[in-house]
Amino acid sequence: MQKINDRVFQVGAPDPRLPYFDALMPTPYGTTYNSYLVRGDEKTALIDPVQGDKADQLLQNLKELQVDKLDYIFCLHTEQDHAGAVLVLRDVFPGAQIVGTAKVAELMEYHFHIPRETFLVVAEGDSIDLGGVTLVCMPIPFAHWPDNTMFWMPEERMLFSSDLFGSHYAPAIPNCPDEDIWLFETRAYFSEIMMPTRQHVARYVAKVKELEPKRICSSHGPIWEDPVIVLNEYELMVSDKVRRDVVIAYVSMHGSTACMVDVVADELCAAGIRVALYDLGDPNRDLRTLVGSVVTETVNAGSLLLASPTVLGGPHPAVAAMALLINAFNPAIRFFGVFGSYGWGTQIEKQVSGLTARVKAERLEPVLVRGLPTEEDYESLRRYARDLAERLQAIPDEEVIA
Ligand code: FEO
Repeated sequence: MQKINDRVFQVGAPDPRLPYFDALMPTPYGTTYNSYLVRGDEKTALIDPVQGDKADQLLQNLKELQVDKLDYIFCLHTEQDHAGAVLVLRDVFPGAQIVGTAKVAELMEYHFHIPRETFLVVAEGDSIDLGGVTLVCMPIPFAHWPDNTMFWMPEERMLFSSDLFGSHYAPAIPNCPDEDIWLFETRAYFSEIMMPTRQHVARYVAKVKELEPKRICSSHGPIWEDPVIVLNEYELMVSDKVRRDVVIAYVSMHGSTACMVDVVADELCAAGIRVALYDLGDPNRDLRTLVGSVVTETVNAGSLLLASPTVLGGPHPAVAAMALLINAFNPAIRFFGVFGSYGWGTQIEKQVSGLTARVKAERLEPVLVRGLPTEEDYESLRRYARDLAERLQAIPDEEVIA
């Protein structure tokens, strides 16, 4: 539990040992399921009733604050990590009115079987007066579900932002986060939750900047006491600006593809281009951790290359999974390429193209080598790398992050 000011307390639960969120996103610093108690002069509200298995912690926190009555339970988002304990809360506080937008009410009916007619439905600009403080509804559809909603408390200039501006980070001391870890985990969170819908998110970032909030209280991670930090970071991440760099994610079975990766990486480095290499076949690391790192690295990356041997005619399954996720997360990379090796025939290019149809980046002509690469093949790869370096150098400076 964390006191934010005389009226607002964070009463949710940390989950510091959670290894993966959604059984997919690596969470090396765990996460938090934030819930906010707001005490007005006349009414008391709870914002977001946490994940179901954390209900006991939430109830314990409310007990410590001697909360024996809730007037409102605000649901900002239906996903179970936000609303999972809503039925428990409703049983403990039967007089509480559940508040949400029409979209929240619709989805909650499916996910929790709460009839939508029982909701107090609010829309953009509606405000609920708690006495001395009000909560104003600001829907943010597709940041990242269609139902995500923020609430703005004008009297305290405090924004309850749902998933937006969140991070999977449960610091040992909640109000003393390590700033480097926090910013990195904010980027990781953005890459896997917000990047796929970043055009929507860009509008919300601009809107929040105009509000000039004093505090941003997200559903995950520490509270932003200096919102300018996260707003600037988000402004950069939703922009189309890129670094002049190359991310290479690869698998090698018998060494040919690894040799090809080395040649491409060396040539790019010689041309002054930063390269980040990820071996998706690393036996000592979970594939989800590697894939998650690549996805985070692609935020504002200039280019992504996938390198793979041919397995049953197509890319190695780890590279196929990477391609599928890149298609879903849809980073704003400028250039995308595939290269690799094969034994006697390959459909890699066709299959990767099919898996990455949403990726708008310019496609590089693939280099696919039969068997052990020859010196001629290596020279083709050097040309491939030099061509990519020239394309990156040709991006106008005003579109590049230094
Ligand atoms: Fe924090 Fe959309 O769940």
